[in-house]
Amino acid sequence: MRRLTAFAPAGIGNFAAGFDVLGAAVAPEDGSLWGDRLEICEAAETRLTCTGPYAHRLPDNPADNLVLRTRDLFEEATGRPLPPLAFTLTKGLPVCSGLGSSAASVAATARALNAWCDDPLSPADLLAVAGCAESLASGALHLDNVAPCLLGGLLLIAPQGPPRALPFPADLRIVVASPELELATRKARQVLPKHVPLHLAVEHAQNLAAFVLALQADDEALLATTLRDLVAEPWRAGLVPGFREAQRGALDAGALGASLSGAGPGVFAVARQEKAPAVAAALEAGFLSTGVAAAVRICRLDTRGARILEGEP
Ligand code: HSE
Repeated sequence: MRRLTAFAPAGIGNFAAGFDVLGAAVAPEDGSLWGDRLEICEAAETRLTCTGPYAHRLPDNPADNLVLRTRDLFEEATGRPLPPLAFTLTKGLPVCSGLGSSAASVAATARALNAWCDDPLSPADLLAVAGCAESLASGALHLDNVAPCLLGGLLLIAPQGPPRALPFPADLRIVVASPELELATRKARQVLPKHVPLHLAVEHAQNLAAFVLALQADDEALLATTLRDLVAEPWRAGLVPGFREAQRGALDAGALGASLSGAGPGVFAVARQEKAPAVAAALEAGFLSTGVAAAVRICRLDTRGARILEGEP
């Protein structure tokens, strides 16, 4: 019987300097796979089974699951009916975590279906399907989560055309803390102001431009001054107990910068490889100081994005 499995990695939306504009896919440096898997195989009728450590947090009604919603959008985009398929989602990312959980389910499904059908959708069309599906979960269309999850890398969502990959220094690590908290992206977007004052718009543009320049020029000192979120973090910090403590701890331990991952409650810090273990310990201790347990991983950039698993664990 024909079957295939796709995997999509964890991700960090709003990579500090770029609200709705910068995102990264990440992979633990120990080589383990951290993300969602989706298996599809031929079946008499379309059905979805959810398994894995976070399956119990998914909607009870399979029709509400992003896998089947992505399936429907994919079918609409190709204009060709899909055969009945059995989908098995292994939910490896916690929901409402800020780690691109919904993006990973969407990206794995989109990648799996495109491979199953011999790639009828171009990368741009596949991204459009994935963006539309992800927006059903988050309540707004923004590609900073789903684009890196699908395509890999640290991406700048350009105003026109495909997302652009930014360089990322090989000796830097991305340390990710996943506290035992949940925060829905919809809710975290509701606390944001509808308008920002002119001085903040200027400061934000200045910071984002300098961040991109720092990466292009491999200027670590400049990078450290720009790993900050001026637009969303101030409004969201209060929604995440332990965030400020974790952020302060990471900076004190030598991180170049630390901010909320996506809409939170996840937190990430960028640090040199040799400082990463201390930064990881500080993030965990920061959350624990407010009574919140957190799992911490030292990651690199995942440059592959969603892929068909062949011979991987
Ligand atoms: N850019 C998004 C936000 C990321 O901050 O709301 C979460 O999907």
